[in-house]
Amino acid sequence: MPEVDANENDDPFIFKYGGIYFPSTHTSPQIIDSVQDFEIRDSDVFLITYPKSGTVWTQQILSLIVNEGHRNGTEEIQNMSRVPWIEYNLSKMDYDSRPSPRLFSSHLPYYFVPRDLRNKRGKIIYIARNPKDVAVSYYHFYKAIKKVKQKKDWETFLDDYLSGKVLSSSWFDHVKGWYTHQEDFNILFLTYEEMKKDLRSSVRQICRFVEKELDEREVDTIVEKATFQNMKQDPLANYTTVPEDTLDVKIATHLRKGTVGDWKNLMTVAQNEKFDKIYSEKMIGVPINFTWDIS
Ligand code: A3P
Repeated sequence: MPEVDANENDDPFIFKYGGIYFPSTHTSPQIIDSVQDFEIRDSDVFLITYPKSGTVWTQQILSLIVNEGHRNGTEEIQNMSRVPWIEYNLSKMDYDSRPSPRLFSSHLPYYFVPRDLRNKRGKIIYIARNPKDVAVSYYHFYKAIKKVKQKKDWETFLDDYLSGKVLSSSWFDHVKGWYTHQEDFNILFLTYEEMKKDLRSSVRQICRFVEKELDEREVDTIVEKATFQNMKQDPLANYTTVPEDTLDVKIATHLRKGTVGDWKNLMTVAQNEKFDKIYSEKMIGVPINFTWDIS
Protein backbone atom coordinates (compact mmCIF):
# COMPACT_ATOMS: atom_id res chain seq x y z
CA MET A 1 0.00 0.00 0.00
CA PRO A 2 1.73 3.24 -1.09
CA GLU A 3 2.22 5.73 1.71
CA VAL A 4 0.61 9.13 1.28
CA ASP A 5 2.17 12.43 2.40
CA ALA A 6 0.84 14.58 5.25
CA ASN A 7 -2.21 16.52 4.02
CA GLU A 8 -1.85 20.17 5.04
CA ASN A 9 -5.11 20.90 3.28
CA ASP A 10 -7.20 19.31 6.01
CA ASP A 11 -9.60 17.96 3.41
CA PRO A 12 -10.72 14.31 3.31
CA PHE A 13 -11.48 14.50 -0.40
CA ILE A 14 -7.92 15.18 -1.42
CA PHE A 15 -4.76 13.25 -0.70
CA LYS A 16 -1.12 14.15 -1.15
CA TYR A 17 1.15 11.68 -2.84
CA GLY A 18 4.68 12.30 -4.09
CA GLY A 19 4.25 15.98 -3.21
CA ILE A 20 1.10 16.37 -5.29
CA TYR A 21 -2.51 16.91 -4.22
CA PHE A 22 -5.00 14.64 -5.99
CA PRO A 23 -8.80 14.36 -5.72
CA SER A 24 -9.62 11.10 -3.92
CA THR A 25 -12.91 11.02 -5.83
CA HIS A 26 -10.99 10.55 -9.09
CA THR A 27 -7.84 8.57 -8.33
CA SER A 28 -5.70 6.86 -5.69
CA PRO A 29 -2.00 6.34 -4.89
CA GLN A 30 -2.32 2.83 -6.40
CA ILE A 31 -3.61 4.26 -9.68
CA ILE A 32 -0.84 6.87 -9.74
CA ASP A 33 1.73 4.09 -9.23
CA SER A 34 0.18 1.94 -11.95
CA VAL A 35 0.30 4.81 -14.44
CA GLN A 36 4.09 4.64 -14.32
CA ASP A 37 4.00 1.06 -15.63
CA PHE A 38 1.55 1.88 -18.41
CA GLU A 39 2.91 0.51 -21.67
CA ILE A 40 3.48 3.22 -24.25
CA ARG A 41 3.20 2.85 -28.01
CA ASP A 42 5.43 4.99 -30.22
CA SER A 43 2.34 6.59 -31.70
CA ASP A 44 0.85 7.70 -28.33
CA VAL A 45 0.50 11.43 -27.75
CA PHE A 46 0.13 12.85 -24.24
CA LEU A 47 -1.23 16.31 -23.59
CA ILE A 48 0.19 17.52 -20.29
CA THR A 49 -0.76 20.66 -18.40
CA TYR A 50 -1.11 22.23 -15.01
CA PRO A 51 -4.88 22.82 -14.51
CA LYS A 52 -6.47 25.83 -16.24
CA SER A 53 -3.73 26.17 -18.81
CA GLY A 54 -5.81 25.35 -21.88
CA THR A 55 -6.17 21.58 -21.56
CA VAL A 56 -9.70 21.27 -22.95
CA TRP A 57 -8.83 23.64 -25.79
CA THR A 58 -5.82 21.56 -26.76
CA GLN A 59 -7.77 18.31 -26.38
CA GLN A 60 -10.11 19.66 -29.03
CA ILE A 61 -7.29 20.76 -31.34
CA LEU A 62 -5.24 17.59 -30.95
CA SER A 63 -8.14 15.21 -31.48
CA LEU A 64 -9.28 17.14 -34.56
CA ILE A 65 -5.76 17.04 -36.00
CA VAL A 66 -5.24 13.36 -35.41
CA ASN A 67 -8.68 12.48 -36.75
CA GLU A 68 -8.34 14.87 -39.71
CA GLY A 69 -11.33 16.81 -38.47
CA HIS A 70 -13.50 13.89 -37.51
CA ARG A 71 -13.27 10.22 -38.31
CA ASN A 72 -15.02 6.99 -37.37
CA GLY A 73 -17.71 8.85 -35.47
CA THR A 74 -15.40 11.05 -33.37
CA GLU A 75 -17.87 13.88 -33.95
CA GLU A 76 -20.24 11.99 -31.65
CA ILE A 77 -17.67 11.54 -28.89
CA GLN A 78 -16.93 13.85 -25.97
CA ASN A 79 -13.63 15.67 -25.98
CA MET A 80 -12.69 14.02 -22.69
CA SER A 81 -13.25 10.58 -24.20
CA ARG A 82 -11.26 11.39 -27.35
CA VAL A 83 -8.29 12.45 -25.17
CA PRO A 84 -8.97 10.64 -21.87
CA TRP A 85 -7.15 11.25 -18.60
CA ILE A 86 -4.46 8.76 -17.76
CA GLU A 87 -4.65 9.35 -13.99
CA TYR A 88 -8.44 9.64 -13.72
CA ASN A 89 -10.08 6.86 -15.70
CA LEU A 90 -13.58 7.70 -14.49
CA SER A 91 -15.36 5.91 -17.31
CA LYS A 92 -13.17 2.80 -16.88
CA MET A 93 -12.11 2.78 -20.50
CA ASP A 94 -9.84 -0.04 -21.62
CA TYR A 95 -6.82 1.99 -22.68
CA ASP A 96 -4.90 -1.06 -23.87
CA SER A 97 -7.46 -1.86 -26.52
CA ARG A 98 -7.75 1.67 -27.89
CA PRO A 99 -6.70 1.92 -31.52
CA SER A 100 -3.53 3.82 -32.39
CA PRO A 101 -2.75 6.62 -32.34
CA ARG A 102 -3.97 6.92 -28.76
CA LEU A 103 -4.31 10.34 -27.19
CA PHE A 104 -4.18 10.98 -23.44
CA SER A 105 -4.42 13.96 -21.12
CA SER A 106 -2.67 14.41 -17.81
CA HIS A 107 -1.92 16.90 -15.06
CA LEU A 108 0.86 14.69 -13.67
CA PRO A 109 4.33 16.01 -12.83
CA TYR A 110 7.19 14.68 -14.93
CA TYR A 111 8.19 12.02 -12.38
CA PHE A 112 4.77 10.30 -12.31
CA VAL A 113 4.13 9.76 -16.03
CA PRO A 114 4.61 6.35 -17.72
CA ARG A 115 8.29 5.41 -17.59
CA ASP A 116 8.38 4.57 -21.29
CA LEU A 117 7.79 8.23 -22.12
CA ARG A 118 11.16 8.94 -20.57
CA ASN A 119 12.72 6.56 -23.04
CA LYS A 120 11.36 8.88 -25.72
CA ARG A 121 8.64 6.53 -26.76
CA GLY A 122 5.47 8.45 -27.57
CA LYS A 123 5.13 12.22 -27.67
CA ILE A 124 4.20 14.91 -25.19
CA ILE A 125 2.60 18.26 -25.84
CA TYR A 126 3.04 20.52 -22.82
CA ILE A 127 0.93 23.67 -22.59
CA ALA A 128 1.93 26.38 -20.11
CA ARG A 129 -0.01 29.54 -19.30
CA ASN A 130 0.75 32.74 -17.44
CA PRO A 131 0.55 31.57 -13.81
CA LYS A 132 -1.36 34.71 -12.85
CA ASP A 133 -4.12 33.96 -15.36
CA VAL A 134 -4.02 30.33 -14.23
CA ALA A 135 -4.57 31.49 -10.63
CA VAL A 136 -7.62 33.56 -11.57
CA SER A 137 -9.07 30.85 -13.81
CA TYR A 138 -8.48 28.23 -11.10
CA TYR A 139 -10.04 30.44 -8.42
CA HIS A 140 -13.31 30.63 -10.36
CA PHE A 141 -13.20 26.97 -11.32
CA TYR A 142 -12.39 25.69 -7.82
CA LYS A 143 -15.77 26.94 -6.57
CA ALA A 144 -17.49 24.44 -8.84
CA ILE A 145 -15.44 21.39 -7.86
CA LYS A 146 -17.73 19.15 -5.87
CA LYS A 147 -16.72 17.79 -2.48
CA VAL A 148 -13.36 19.56 -2.06
CA LYS A 149 -13.12 21.99 0.80
CA GLN A 150 -13.76 25.47 -0.54
CA LYS A 151 -11.30 28.32 -0.13
CA LYS A 152 -12.69 31.25 1.85
CA ASP A 153 -11.99 33.99 -0.68
CA TRP A 154 -9.63 35.08 -3.45
CA GLU A 155 -6.89 36.12 -1.01
CA THR A 156 -6.94 32.69 0.65
CA PHE A 157 -7.08 30.91 -2.69
CA LEU A 158 -4.11 32.90 -3.99
CA ASP A 159 -2.02 32.16 -0.91
CA ASP A 160 -2.81 28.45 -1.15
CA TYR A 161 -2.09 28.46 -4.89
CA LEU A 162 1.26 30.16 -4.34
CA SER A 163 2.21 27.63 -1.69
CA GLY A 164 0.94 24.66 -3.70
CA LYS A 165 -2.00 23.84 -1.42
CA VAL A 166 -4.47 23.28 -4.25
CA LEU A 167 -5.24 20.26 -6.44
CA SER A 168 -2.18 19.44 -8.60
CA SER A 169 -0.07 21.44 -6.09
CA SER A 170 2.44 24.03 -7.24
CA TRP A 171 2.30 25.64 -10.70
CA PHE A 172 5.99 26.53 -10.28
CA ASP A 173 7.07 22.95 -9.57
CA HIS A 174 4.94 21.60 -12.41
CA VAL A 175 6.25 23.92 -15.10
CA LYS A 176 9.82 23.97 -13.78
CA GLY A 177 9.87 20.18 -13.51
CA TRP A 178 8.66 19.62 -17.05
CA TYR A 179 10.78 22.39 -18.49
CA THR A 180 14.03 21.33 -16.87
CA HIS A 181 13.49 17.64 -17.75
CA GLN A 182 12.46 18.20 -21.34
CA GLU A 183 15.60 16.53 -22.69
CA ASP A 184 14.35 13.23 -21.27
CA PHE A 185 11.17 13.33 -23.32
CA ASN A 186 9.96 13.79 -26.84
CA ILE A 187 8.19 17.03 -26.07
CA LEU A 188 6.67 20.11 -27.68
CA PHE A 189 6.28 23.14 -25.41
CA LEU A 190 3.56 25.63 -26.28
CA THR A 191 1.93 28.43 -24.36
CA TYR A 192 -1.73 29.36 -24.07
CA GLU A 193 -0.73 32.90 -25.04
CA GLU A 194 0.91 31.75 -28.30
CA MET A 195 -2.24 29.83 -29.13
CA LYS A 196 -4.35 32.90 -28.46
CA LYS A 197 -2.09 35.06 -30.56
CA ASP A 198 -2.00 32.82 -33.59
CA LEU A 199 -4.16 29.71 -33.33
CA ARG A 200 -3.52 28.70 -36.90
CA SER A 201 0.22 28.65 -36.47
CA SER A 202 -0.13 26.66 -33.21
CA VAL A 203 -2.33 24.15 -35.02
CA ARG A 204 0.35 23.83 -37.68
CA GLN A 205 3.07 23.37 -35.06
CA ILE A 206 1.10 20.56 -33.45
CA CYS A 207 0.51 19.01 -36.90
CA ARG A 208 4.24 18.95 -37.56
CA PHE A 209 4.98 17.53 -34.14
CA VAL A 210 2.50 14.66 -34.47
CA GLU A 211 3.55 14.20 -38.11
CA LYS A 212 0.13 14.84 -39.52
CA GLU A 213 -0.02 16.56 -42.88
CA LEU A 214 -3.28 18.45 -43.31
CA ASP A 215 -4.31 20.65 -46.20
CA GLU A 216 -5.32 24.30 -45.79
CA ARG A 217 -9.03 23.51 -45.69
CA GLU A 218 -8.60 20.94 -42.95
CA VAL A 219 -6.54 23.42 -40.93
CA ASP A 220 -9.25 26.05 -41.43
CA THR A 221 -11.88 23.64 -40.13
CA ILE A 222 -9.84 22.84 -37.03
CA VAL A 223 -9.17 26.51 -36.27
CA GLU A 224 -12.87 27.22 -36.66
CA LYS A 225 -13.92 24.35 -34.39
CA ALA A 226 -11.39 25.41 -31.75
CA THR A 227 -12.40 29.04 -31.31
CA PHE A 228 -13.62 29.95 -27.84
CA GLN A 229 -17.10 30.86 -29.11
CA ASN A 230 -17.59 27.62 -31.01
CA MET A 231 -16.24 25.40 -28.27
CA LYS A 232 -18.33 27.16 -25.64
CA GLN A 233 -21.48 26.19 -27.55
CA ASP A 234 -20.39 22.68 -28.39
CA PRO A 235 -21.57 20.24 -25.68
CA LEU A 236 -19.04 17.67 -26.89
CA ALA A 237 -16.18 20.12 -26.40
CA ASN A 238 -17.21 22.28 -23.46
CA TYR A 239 -17.17 19.69 -20.64
CA THR A 240 -20.65 20.63 -19.44
CA THR A 241 -21.64 16.98 -19.41
CA VAL A 242 -19.04 15.86 -16.87
CA PRO A 243 -20.42 13.55 -14.16
CA GLU A 244 -22.65 15.58 -11.82
CA ASP A 245 -20.77 14.55 -8.71
CA THR A 246 -17.52 16.06 -10.01
CA LEU A 247 -18.40 19.59 -11.07
CA ASP A 248 -21.31 21.98 -10.59
CA VAL A 249 -21.55 23.46 -14.07
CA LYS A 250 -24.08 26.01 -12.82
CA ILE A 251 -21.26 27.60 -10.81
CA ALA A 252 -18.42 27.38 -13.33
CA THR A 253 -17.48 25.61 -16.53
CA HIS A 254 -14.18 24.90 -18.23
CA LEU A 255 -14.80 27.65 -20.77
CA ARG A 256 -15.12 30.91 -18.86
CA LYS A 257 -13.58 33.96 -20.56
CA GLY A 258 -10.73 32.56 -22.65
CA THR A 259 -8.65 35.74 -22.54
CA VAL A 260 -5.08 36.77 -21.80
CA GLY A 261 -4.42 39.08 -18.84
CA ASP A 262 -7.63 38.61 -16.84
CA TRP A 263 -5.47 38.56 -13.69
CA LYS A 264 -5.31 42.36 -13.95
CA ASN A 265 -9.02 42.49 -13.10
CA LEU A 266 -8.65 40.61 -9.83
CA MET A 267 -5.15 40.92 -8.45
CA THR A 268 -4.31 43.88 -6.25
CA VAL A 269 -1.00 45.71 -6.61
CA ALA A 270 0.23 44.11 -3.38
CA GLN A 271 -0.83 40.61 -4.52
CA ASN A 272 0.90 41.16 -7.84
CA GLU A 273 4.13 42.23 -6.15
CA LYS A 274 4.02 39.22 -3.86
CA PHE A 275 3.40 36.98 -6.88
CA ASP A 276 6.37 38.43 -8.77
CA LYS A 277 8.64 37.94 -5.76
CA ILE A 278 7.63 34.30 -5.36
CA TYR A 279 7.89 33.73 -9.12
CA SER A 280 11.47 35.03 -9.21
CA GLU A 281 12.45 32.95 -6.17
CA LYS A 282 10.81 29.74 -7.38
CA MET A 283 11.92 30.00 -10.98
CA ILE A 284 15.50 31.03 -10.23
CA GLY A 285 17.95 29.34 -12.58
CA VAL A 286 15.16 28.14 -14.88
CA PRO A 287 15.87 29.51 -18.33
CA ILE A 288 12.21 29.84 -19.23
CA ASN A 289 11.58 32.65 -21.62
CA PHE A 290 7.83 32.49 -21.95
CA THR A 291 6.15 35.65 -23.14
CA TRP A 292 2.92 35.75 -21.23
CA ASP A 293 1.33 39.04 -22.17
CA ILE A 294 1.04 38.76 -25.91
CA SER A 295 -1.49 41.27 -27.12
P1 A3P B 1 -10.42 31.15 -18.27
O1 A3P B 1 -10.96 30.63 -16.97
O2 A3P B 1 -9.35 32.19 -18.05
O3 A3P B 1 -11.46 31.62 -19.18
P2 A3P B 1 -8.31 23.96 -18.75
O4 A3P B 1 -8.96 23.39 -19.94
O5 A3P B 1 -6.86 23.57 -18.61
O6 A3P B 1 -9.10 23.69 -17.52
O7 A3P B 1 -8.25 25.54 -18.96
C1 A3P B 1 -9.41 26.32 -18.90
C2 A3P B 1 -9.09 27.69 -19.44
O8 A3P B 1 -8.88 27.61 -20.87
C3 A3P B 1 -10.24 28.66 -19.20
O9 A3P B 1 -9.66 29.95 -18.99
C4 A3P B 1 -10.98 28.56 -20.53
O10 A3P B 1 -11.85 29.62 -20.79
C5 A3P B 1 -9.81 28.50 -21.50
N1 A3P B 1 -10.19 27.98 -22.81
C6 A3P B 1 -10.86 26.82 -23.09
N2 A3P B 1 -11.09 26.71 -24.41
C7 A3P B 1 -10.59 27.82 -24.99
C8 A3P B 1 -10.53 28.31 -26.32
N3 A3P B 1 -11.08 27.63 -27.34
N4 A3P B 1 -9.92 29.49 -26.57
C9 A3P B 1 -9.38 30.18 -25.53
N5 A3P B 1 -9.39 29.79 -24.25
C10 A3P B 1 -10.00 28.63 -23.97
